[in-house]
Formats: sequence, C-alpha cells, structure tokens
Amino acid sequence: MTLEIQKSFENSPLWKLKVRLQYSGWLQYIIHAIWVLIMVMIAGAGWLIGYWPVLLFWMPLGIAAFLGIALVGNVLIVKYGWHPAEGIPASKTDMDAFDLMRDRHSCRSFQSQNLTSEHHAKLMEAVQFHSQQNQLLGQKPVRFEYICAPLTVWPVVGASQFLVAIAPHEYNRLSIIDVGRSLQKIVNHATKMGLATCWIGPGADQKSIIEHLGNRIDPIKDHVICVCAIGYESMFKPLFIRLMQKLQHRRLPLSQLFFSDPLFKIPLDTKSEPYSNYGRCYEVCQWSPSSYNSQTTRCVAVTDQIEDQDKPIRFDFFAATTSRYYAAVALGIWCANWETGCKALNKHGHFAILSPKERGFDGVSDLPRYDLSWVIEYA
Ligand SMILES: Cc1cc2nc3c(=O)[nH]c(=O)nc-3n(C[C@H](O)[C@H](O)[C@H](O)COP(=O)(O)O)c2cc1C
Repeated sequence: MTLEIQKSFENSPLWKLKVRLQYSGWLQYIIHAIWVLIMVMIAGAGWLIGYWPVLLFWMPLGIAAFLGIALVGNVLIVKYGWHPAEGIPASKTDMDAFDLMRDRHSCRSFQSQNLTSEHHAKLMEAVQFHSQQNQLLGQKPVRFEYICAPLTVWPVVGASQFLVAIAPHEYNRLSIIDVGRSLQKIVNHATKMGLATCWIGPGADQKSIIEHLGNRIDPIKDHVICVCAIGYESMFKPLFIRLMQKLQHRRLPLSQLFFSDPLFKIPLDTKSEPYSNYGRCYEVCQWSPSSYNSQTTRCVAVTDQIEDQDKPIRFDFFAATTSRYYAAVALGIWCANWETGCKALNKHGHFAILSPKERGFDGVSDLPRYDLSWVIEYA
C-alpha cells in the first residue's frame, strides 16, 4: 500500500515538476523565490491588517527586498556566471593529515574551469592506486570512473568533473565499505592538492550517469554506488546552498559515537590514557562525511589485560541503521580517516572481520550492526 502511495506521488505532476527543476539546476533558486513570496505575502497581510506595522509590514518587506536582490544576484552571478574568473586554489601540502581531513568539506559550488592536466594526472594516479586489489578489504573489485561532463546532480552547482564509484552488481557489503574507504582516501588526496570535492548519492541522477559512462559500464555486472564531484571551489554560491552548507556542517558529540561497552551506553573516555593516545583520530572520524549528514557509524573500544596492564586491543566499527548502501559507505569513510589518523600517529593495526565468538559477544543485536574491527598491533 505504502509503495502504491509513493508511486502515485512520484507520478504526480507536482513531483515531476520538482524533479525537472531540481535536475535543470533551477530548484535552488525557486526555493529562494518562494521565501521572497512568503515575505511579500506577510507584508501584504500586515498592510491589510494595519496592526504592528514594523513587525508585520516593514520587517517582512525589508527581508523580501533583501532576499529578492540576493536572488537576482545569485541567478546572474552563479547560474549565468557573471563574475570575474577565479584563480586555482593553492595546494595544502603544509597541512598535517588531521588538519587536512578537518579541512575537507562538501563543496556545492564549483568553478567552471576544468582541472589542469597536472592536477588531473595526479588525481588519476591516486584513483589507480586506491582501486588496486591489494588496497581493498574485500575480494571483489571496485573502481572509480572519471567523467568530464555536467551530470545532473542536486543541489551542487557548476560541477563538471566526477568520479563514479562502481561496485559489483551483486550486493556485497564489504565492497560497499571498500567504495567508502577507497574514495575517501582519494578525497583526502584531492584535498591536499587544493581540490574541492562533494560526495553525491541520492542527489545524482542515475540515468544521466549511465548515459555518460557509455560502454564503460555493464548494467549486468556493475552497480553505481555514488559519485564524487571534483574541481575547484567557487566563492560564488547560491544563498540556499550557503545556508544548507552551514546547517549540515555540524556533528554529534564524540560521546554519542565512541563507546567503551558493547551496549553503547558508556561513552569512551577519549581524553584520558590509554585512549587519549589516539589523539585526533576520533575527531577526524566524527567529521567524516555521510549521506544527509546522517552520521551512522559507531565505535566500541575493547580492552584486555596485556602484561598485567589494561590495554586497548581493538576498535569495533558498527552501522547504526539498516541502510545497505549509504551506512556501509559512511563506515568505509570512517575507516579511511581512522586508518589515516593511525598512520600519522604511527599506531599500527589492521582491519579484520571477527566472528561473534572472536569478539566475545554472545548477545543478539540487530542494531547497531557490527561490520569490522581495527585490530591493534603492538610491537
Ligand atoms: C555517501 C554520501 C552521499 C552523499 N550524497 C549527497 C548528495 O546527494 N547531495 C549533497 O549535496 N551532498 C551529499 N553528501 C554530502 C553530505 O551531505 C555531507 O557530507 C554532510 O552534509 C556533511 O557535510 P560536510 O561534508 O560539509 O561536513 C553525501 C555524502 C556521502 C558520504
């Protein structure tokens, strides 16, 4: 029944109009225009009522005027590109691994210029390296196809270069985690080069991706998981995007992400020994990207007695939702940042999938769902 309602909703003319506006790049401005209209209507109603003229007339009218001017400016500057050419951002080679991972953010407005041939070559080197079988956790190959074309994506504007993440058609959770892990390593590399990135999953039009991939994709064997827009960030952004970026660039506190018990009740004390030895590894996981900023990954640290001392032996990573794709991608992204942080701190370890018995877990738990562990290697 609910599926029928959803189908009839998706076939309604209003929904079709929304999708057409979304993928033609006009929806951002229409949402903005609706706010102008609402303010004008409030001012109109205030004028008719005649009470509280400042609150009900002048204030909404002022906001409407401000938003209206911003809307015209946004359309001319961003949509039609009426602005001076922008420079190529400098690389960030002087930043350490942690600052780089914290510096990454989802860029939703790109310059119209393509990557320089040097940047393109360096990016493709990283793509090749991180898609190699010996760099993956699973046995199945995943790959990242480069497309230079304005794919239909939402709400990102100006993007014309993408990496399309492709996993085997048959569902394999570890391959989806591999997509997250490998692509995040490429994203971190791109950030260091001064490039801007934006993971795009639900906001990418699959039809347009398949069309542009042509014979580089086999619909029987391959499955497009998501894309990542790559390019130079533009300082010119629609107001709607600025607002969205501000609202989404926030995170749950560490106490809701890292735990010291298998029931996810006791927050991990990341500030005291022995866990403080992992420094900013927690923070870069906390700030890793996830679809709709849903932040679905959780971690449980496990300690054991080693040489009469309580020492951390591993960190178990879990997905907090049943989402088969985006939660697994987000977990892979965490893994990439965790691993990169550990490498920077010279903390050795490896990822492994442990059985409930190996984890000493005898309870039944659907969620959070265990995916894999970072097993610490002591010298
Ligand atoms: C798998 C995945 C899919 C995403 N899909 C979209 C998308 O379709 N459109 C979009 O604008 N952002 C998308 N994002 C970016 C998130 O919205 C973003 O990471 C989150 O809001 C946090 O913001 P930040 O990356 O700036 O910290 C996606 C991120 C991930 C990891």
